[in-house]
Amino acid sequence: MNIKRVGILTSGGDCQSLNAAMRGVAKSLYNNIEGIEIYGIQEGYKGLIYNNMIKMKESDFSGILTLGGTILGTSRQPFKKMNIPDENGLDKVSAMKENYKKNKLDCLVVLGGNGSHKTANLLSEQGLNVVTLPKTIDNDLWGTDMTFGFQSAVDLATHAIDCIHTTAASHGRIFIVEVMGHKTGWMTLSAGIAGGADVILIPEIPYDINNVIAAVKKRYKQKKKFSIIAVAEGAISKEDSLLSKKELKRKRASSSSPSVSYELAQQLTEATGQEVRITVPGHTQRGGAPDSFDRVLSTRLGAAAARLIMNGDFGKMVAVKGTSIRAVPLSEVAGKLKLVPSDCEIVLQAKEVGICFGD
Ligand code: F6P
Repeated sequence: MNIKRVGILTSGGDCQSLNAAMRGVAKSLYNNIEGIEIYGIQEGYKGLIYNNMIKMKESDFSGILTLGGTILGTSRQPFKKMNIPDENGLDKVSAMKENYKKNKLDCLVVLGGNGSHKTANLLSEQGLNVVTLPKTIDNDLWGTDMTFGFQSAVDLATHAIDCIHTTAASHGRIFIVEVMGHKTGWMTLSAGIAGGADVILIPEIPYDINNVIAAVKKRYKQKKKFSIIAVAEGAISKEDSLLSKKELKRKRASSSSPSVSYELAQQLTEATGQEVRITVPGHTQRGGAPDSFDRVLSTRLGAAAARLIMNGDFGKMVAVKGTSIRAVPLSEVAGKLKLVPSDCEIVLQAKEVGICFGD
């Protein structure tokens, strides 16, 4: 197939090396295809639905290797709403197909996470030539060992824990650091280990508060007067894990705690009598420049995605498998979440060094 025109978009929550990845795709295409045109679709799928795209210049992709965020902008367009017409009755999927055709695109490149991959797969099933790259700080995308953005975010979360360590030690306090990740605990697990947390709580391993209290008290007895608890946004108690989705939603809506960390803080204060403080690094974890690992990974994934396009090998996501980059069919990726297995090596090794998971 003769590729002349490629559309590219970034979708869902941003992360540090989206620009680096787009640069990888663009540089490879400009280098290998004479006269190639790249169209930058604005604000994710929204730009494809409402035909908001601009012809990029080769120079637009220069000087962005270290730039955080995305030069195209992004937005969350939930997959479950894709088949619901917008407020003016516009059929979003048909609009995306029409705009792809109207702009004479030969391929659509999507940089996205879980939800974005469901939509990418849908568009591929509807006949569009789609190639995707795995983006998310959460590292929870099925089919790839690693997503870009993850390592940079882990570095920032680790830095937050490092900073907390010194002040926690000075005051002999319990510190809870809430790390991003509503559904999965990859970030908390890595940052927790890297930052020397004493307790790590993740959604995949429901915790018993008594075990967390016991871990903190044990440290206190050993004259270690401070404790660091790394908690994922989506960490859940054993008790709550038994509730249905609806019951849990209701319980959380009626709770005065803004997040699981506040609930834990109250329980720990009551049980230990120690002072507890909470730190939420929040969106700082997604901000700033990508680290060197992500710059390399994104460049490699970008080049591999461009190669798929040049080979006309569509309907695939470029993925990390061990130390190699491979292509995985979108149908295998879409709709599946890569969870932390509760008995995986990294969890077992963390337990060997005495980290408590509350289970
Ligand atoms: O999907 C990435 C992520 O940063 C999650 O870790 C976090 O729970 C969520 O996005 C936050 O979403 P938003 O930026 O829409 O507040």
